[in-house]
Amino acid sequence: MTGGREHPMLPATNHDEYAQTRFLLTFKNYIQNELDPLDKELVEKVVKPAYEQQAGRPAQASKDVRKLMEAEPFHQFWLSSLRHQQDLMWDNVADSVDRQLDELQEKFHRTETPLGNLRLNPDMEIPSYISAFDNHRMPGSYYTELADDDLRAGALFDGAAALYHVNRNGGTMNDARGWTMIDHIETRFPDLGAPRRVLDMGCCVGQSTLTYCEKWPDAEVYGIDIGAPLLRYAHARSERLGRAVHYSQQNAETTDFDDGFFDLVVSTAAIHETNRPATQRIFDECHRLLRPGGVMAHLEVPVRYADLGVWEQIRADWESQVNNEPYIAGMARLDLAAMAEKSGFRDVAAGYHWQVPGFIPGRSGFETEGGPNGTLKIGSWYMVSAVR
Ligand SMILES: C[S@@+](CC[C@H](N)C(=O)[O-])C[C@H]1O[C@@H](n2cnc3c(N)ncnc32)[C@H](O)[C@@H]1O
Repeated sequence: MTGGREHPMLPATNHDEYAQTRFLLTFKNYIQNELDPLDKELVEKVVKPAYEQQAGRPAQASKDVRKLMEAEPFHQFWLSSLRHQQDLMWDNVADSVDRQLDELQEKFHRTETPLGNLRLNPDMEIPSYISAFDNHRMPGSYYTELADDDLRAGALFDGAAALYHVNRNGGTMNDARGWTMIDHIETRFPDLGAPRRVLDMGCCVGQSTLTYCEKWPDAEVYGIDIGAPLLRYAHARSERLGRAVHYSQQNAETTDFDDGFFDLVVSTAAIHETNRPATQRIFDECHRLLRPGGVMAHLEVPVRYADLGVWEQIRADWESQVNNEPYIAGMARLDLAAMAEKSGFRDVAAGYHWQVPGFIPGRSGFETEGGPNGTLKIGSWYMVSAVR
């Protein structure tokens, strides 16, 4: 049984694993549809008025009400429900990955390379913003290797991605970020045309990367990441899906490609895992790697503290403080457009691009304003893009 996880590298689920997957999807929806509104009501009706009485001014940010919220039993229940569903998700996928790990490793060893290639660098230092903790509570994170040619982290990430996004990010291919990136490039930079060389920074298992191969079949597509197990899996996955990608293990802050080698350099959901100095170095590196007139674009989670109400900030804080995504809160406060200009880019813009394929009827394209009344702009991704 594939349980809806359908491509040649994805570990299949057996009956019990699939039943648990269905439970977890229901649990995630229950939290979003039932518990989130109650937690928000608690902030609006109980905690904000209590704060105002105590402080003599209205609460303006999540930090104002954090202590009061954490003393509330319902909020404690909400916090731990979110944490448990995240941990159960990794456990669920790990069960099917570990049951089939030998088979997956065997698939990697049998992967011939008629299309793309794989270049690993065991001497590459994992940056501390990745190595210091297990990102989004994924046991072992992106880089842990327990055996020769280990690809477990890649299989774990790929197996969990659709579940994490409640199937809204392109289903089992999890490639909506890539299609959204393409739509953004076509919307903002129609004169770029079909790029000859594309670099995907923080490509992970290549979910977004493959959309660039599909969209621009004549382009040379490159993917870099810090995690060797991800890249082994990405390589085997791409080859089995018939796509040519040149994967290499590199830190996006400093790569070994020549100056001006690329027409387009992109990343999807990678910047929020780095810190401020690293983000600036990545923008500098994009500038170095692009030919004059080439385009840089980074797609991010649609979380901007300046655009969010108090409860929405509390939800974003959960990602940072509980879900081991400590740099989201920083990235969501950075002026990414100013940083791109500092790296020498022109025609810089930052804003929200509606996801492709979308799941909010009637919403498409690029907009600079946030959601109404401080709500999260669900169904969009935050973009910063610019011309070299
Ligand atoms: C959440 S995943 C995003 C995956 C993929 N881009 C997508 O859209 O599905 C973030 C990826 O960025 C990678 N990453 C973080 N910092 C990096 C850096 N400095 N250089 C290269 N990759 C990095 C991580 O290893 C991870 O694979």
